[in-house]
Amino acid sequence: MPDLPISAPPATDPAALVAGLPPMWLRDNCPCASCRDPRSGQKFFQITDLPDDLAIGTVTARRVHGADAVEVTWSPDGHRSVYAVEWLTTRDPAQGDHRSEAGKQLWEAADLGPLPEADWSAYLSEDGERARVLEAVQRLGFALLRSVPTEEDQVLAVARSFGFVRETNYGELFDVRVEPAPDNLAFSSLAITPHTDNPYRDPVPTIQLLHCLQNAAEGGDSGLVDGFHAAALLREEDPEAFAVLTRTPVPFGYRDARAELTAHRPLIDLDPMDRIREVRFNNRSMGTLRLPAHELEAFYAAYRTFAALLLRPELLLTFRLEPGDCLIFDNTRLLHARTAFEQTGARHLQGAYADLDGLASTLAVLRRTTVLDELAELFHGPGSADYLGEAVTQAEHMLQAGALAEAAGAPAHLVAAALLHDVGHFGGPVSGDELMAGTDNRHSHTGADLLARWFGPEVTEPVRLHVAAKRYLCAVEPGYRARLSEASEYTLHVQGGPMNEQDAAAFAALPGAADAVAVRRWDDEAKEADAATPDFEHFRPLLASLLRR
Ligand code: OGA
Ligand code: ZN
Ligand code: ZN
Repeated sequence: MPDLPISAPPATDPAALVAGLPPMWLRDNCPCASCRDPRSGQKFFQITDLPDDLAIGTVTARRVHGADAVEVTWSPDGHRSVYAVEWLTTRDPAQGDHRSEAGKQLWEAADLGPLPEADWSAYLSEDGERARVLEAVQRLGFALLRSVPTEEDQVLAVARSFGFVRETNYGELFDVRVEPAPDNLAFSSLAITPHTDNPYRDPVPTIQLLHCLQNAAEGGDSGLVDGFHAAALLREEDPEAFAVLTRTPVPFGYRDARAELTAHRPLIDLDPMDRIREVRFNNRSMGTLRLPAHELEAFYAAYRTFAALLLRPELLLTFRLEPGDCLIFDNTRLLHARTAFEQTGARHLQGAYADLDGLASTLAVLRRTTVLDELAELFHGPGSADYLGEAVTQAEHMLQAGALAEAAGAPAHLVAAALLHDVGHFGGPVSGDELMAGTDNRHSHTGADLLARWFGPEVTEPVRLHVAAKRYLCAVEPGYRARLSEASEYTLHVQGGPMNEQDAAAFAALPGAADAVAVRRWDDEAKEADAATPDFEHFRPLLASLLRR
């Protein structure tokens, strides 16, 4: 191993880190064992237990488990809280929950390539497959499982594979086939136009499943419409109609001999940030609105506009469910439909409901392992390639960088940044080979963008800046450039050469400059042939602790 670089993480002024943070917020988040149960993380105290005149007393820098931390002594009660710097500097740019339109991919039929689908047995046996399917339900609103055994009740097994069955008055599951005297038009052979299910229920079942057991009828094809996309179009084309539909409660109802269900909800529901969060639409079960005439006028105009928009042919994705197919979809977002059918052959689906929160939980737990599997895959696959004229492979180079950071006592986020700094050489549109042939592949940006799917800026930004840091060090540190490897010296030109004075000053002023320089130094050192380095698995727990929630 080469000598360890002497690049301690940046000294941070502890007082500056907490200045401006509301004391109530900071204290409410005290992680100590008398404030929270260390096992569950749940709080022991009530917000009203905190003193009215709570104020920060003293602030001191600390090191806890090799990471920078800040200790706050509170006035007037003398309580002490220790916060990791990592935690204090985390900022969440208003992500919100997984339900609203934010972060989803809204679509019309032509936007979708091959349908998001998976084979049932692969889905059951491979975490990555399962995560991919559930992620599609979250992002696109649906996924299709193939080759689910065509046996009764299998739809319940599908629901239980990611969540909990939501039982209703129809039972744990319902049979969709022609009945002699149907209580619901779904149980006839009539066409059903795009709709969401059970709008008369509050809360509405947020996931629906339809498992096809038989589909030998002529007709009976399926359709899906992205209700969020339609609502977003309405907002764009007719903002007044959109507003009316978000604020008019609409009565929906269902009754039969044993049930009488009603719910009053708007057709388009927004979250507290005014983002589209739920769409309800069902012509069969919409009841009578009782409103002043001018409000009825406005509602009906808006309702008709939205209904016409939902029927635009380009919005409708059509396909045919074959025996063994099980469609899983977000019933608060997608509208589903079927064409009429002739009873020339039997058609039998089984349906069930479940909920999005259970799916999100299953996906989050799966991601803890699958994300790291994906990264491990990069190290074992593309990472085993030669590293641009150096004596080590790409993977060895990054593992060495991570090990050097760790040996230097760097905080977890910098160990991760060092370990992952070159992932952009793998997946990007321009390869490392092209970099060596004179095209800047901007791998630091590609890498940071890739990592941003899983890690916060404390990991991604040093990665993004590690090329800039080289150009910076060449400008400001005598002797630095002469120590660069031959390949690094070559790529320096492709990447823009040493910074000029002005760019160097701007770089030094960036909040992440010190972290990026630290990563750069480990990067430069990590080119030792035959150095003994830990493998990727060694870093798994550290990476797991940094995954964003
Ligand atoms: C339903 C429904 C669709 C179909 O049962 O809710 O819309 O394909 N069925 O029969
Ligand atoms: Zn339906
Ligand atoms: Zn590197």
